Amino acid sequence: KEDIREGMGMNDSKEASDSIDVREILDRRISEAMLRAFGDSAADADPMLTAATKEEFGDYQCNAAMSFAKKMKQKPRDVAAKIVEELQIADLCTEPQIAGPGFINLTLSTEFIQSKLRLMLNDKDRLGIEKKNPPQRIVVDFSSPNVAKEMHVGHLRSTIIGESICRLLEFLGHEVIRLNHIGDWGTQFGMLILYLKQVAPEVIKGEEVDLGDLVAFYKKAKVKFDENDEFKSNARKEVVELQAENEESMAAWRHLCEQSRKEFKKIYDELDITFEERGESFYNPYLKDVITSLQEQGLAVEDGGAQVVFLDGIANRDGSSQGLIVQKSDGGFMYSTTDLAAMRYRADVDRAERILYVTDVGQAFHFEQVFQVARRAGFVSDTVSLEHVPFGLVLGEDGKKFKTRSGATVKLKDLLDEAVSRAEADIVARLKAEDREESEEFIRSSSRKVGLSAVVYADLKTTRTSNYRFSFDKMLALQGNTAPYMLYAYARIQGINRKVGSEDLDLPSVDVVLDDISEKSLARHLIRLPRILAELEVELKPHTLCDYIFELSQKFNQFYERCSIANAESEELKRSRLALAQLTARVLKLSLHLLDIKPLERL
Ligand code: ARG
Repeated sequence: KEDIREGMGMNDSKEASDSIDVREILDRRISEAMLRAFGDSAADADPMLTAATKEEFGDYQCNAAMSFAKKMKQKPRDVAAKIVEELQIADLCTEPQIAGPGFINLTLSTEFIQSKLRLMLNDKDRLGIEKKNPPQRIVVDFSSPNVAKEMHVGHLRSTIIGESICRLLEFLGHEVIRLNHIGDWGTQFGMLILYLKQVAPEVIKGEEVDLGDLVAFYKKAKVKFDENDEFKSNARKEVVELQAENEESMAAWRHLCEQSRKEFKKIYDELDITFEERGESFYNPYLKDVITSLQEQGLAVEDGGAQVVFLDGIANRDGSSQGLIVQKSDGGFMYSTTDLAAMRYRADVDRAERILYVTDVGQAFHFEQVFQVARRAGFVSDTVSLEHVPFGLVLGEDGKKFKTRSGATVKLKDLLDEAVSRAEADIVARLKAEDREESEEFIRSSSRKVGLSAVVYADLKTTRTSNYRFSFDKMLALQGNTAPYMLYAYARIQGINRKVGSEDLDLPSVDVVLDDISEKSLARHLIRLPRILAELEVELKPHTLCDYIFELSQKFNQFYERCSIANAESEELKRSRLALAQLTARVLKLSLHLLDIKPLERL
């Protein structure tokens, strides 16, 4: 990951006034101060800068003195004092404070916060966040359901997390190649086509068929395949036909893909997801070459008739090295073979510099293996970053496997529809309680927005690698870190902006006043946005952005409770507070966009 971090680094020639990531600057200044104070012995000392644990301690805390003191055999507080003496941060902070055993507390100065706010106010669309120069070419492999199988909640998580990652990387200016690596190829299609020929020939002749029915056929075909030897050998022949691209077989296969695709598209349209479909079949022509290349390099060897690559540093229980099968004894290829071909293609043809795979943690070992083989085979050079972006399981409210009440797998479309209808019930009840009249259209579109956003947000706000319990009640709650809460918060701020009339406000020229603690606290939080996004770029954990906006809306509420906008004591103060309100709305809107949510101006 090193090269990515480097790419994120600040340009050295930039000064504090126009570079946006405060933490980067402070980090560097502390390192410089340590060098001045202690010479070469501090050459690679870590500045150990963290966010302050409490707001009253300031914004940041430098913990370097304690560990460095140990190394230098000096008193931590003395070390801290020496660092502070050399620290040149007057353009950013007030006088540093040494606390406890030797913490150095740093507080951003009001002038500095104001200058950052000005920068954000001046830049309506990007809020002062510059595009990466040069941009990276990044492949994001996400969603990727399987043809003739139900798209399940795991795919939904991949879709939502992947979309959010793409939006972030695109916003930062990268060239993102969004790929849907659908499972549309493999021996199972021989089995399915043969079965359909026998029991429902109309299905492969181009008749419309429900994905649900297709899945049922698939299950029955599998049973027959396992029970009936003649069927099994005929299925193999069918696979051969398919691999030889026999026109009749291909037409059947294409039709099956089309029927599944239609079903997947419903979900993608609902959630506003776009990508290029490049399924496993796309890499079929390259599979043979992968094997040949692995063999030529002595990496793939025969083992019990199969082609196997033995892995470095991954052992079986008995201590022998574990092998990755890349071609079965019957000549068939594996899931991993396709991934090897895909990696090679993405590195060579797509010229990707970073390749991300958004799948559940269950596939961690698969990716560990194929990454290793791809590197050793030279399919992907060391400069390309290969990253598995794993996520936890979706569980039912009871913490068990996610199922419907009758025990069947939950259809995604049903799940989204239910979220929408529950949101509608909530909205109707709320309007009634407030004695508000709204049009059918308003209710319909708001419910849709709230319901779908609730599902998306609930997924993203969970720490990516944790399992999460799917609960309609929790995700639709009006209080707490939920989509409805965020959507209402945004609409409310926009309501205030409309009412007090900031339409004609010339934001860039406003000098933001930060006298009240709630104004200052809100402002300090607003200017943290660049840092949040910079970390997100590396860590790819959308929940940090959810936490950030949740805290933002809470800080806005505190500000709004304490500081009247409409009745501000002076015109100047009114403009300043409106600017804070507008900026809060813009930060919320951008953040929600990055989370695949388009907020409503009114709710
Ligand atoms: N189709 C796979 C599944 O449903 C996910 C594919 C992920 N991408 C990849 N390149 N292997 O589990």
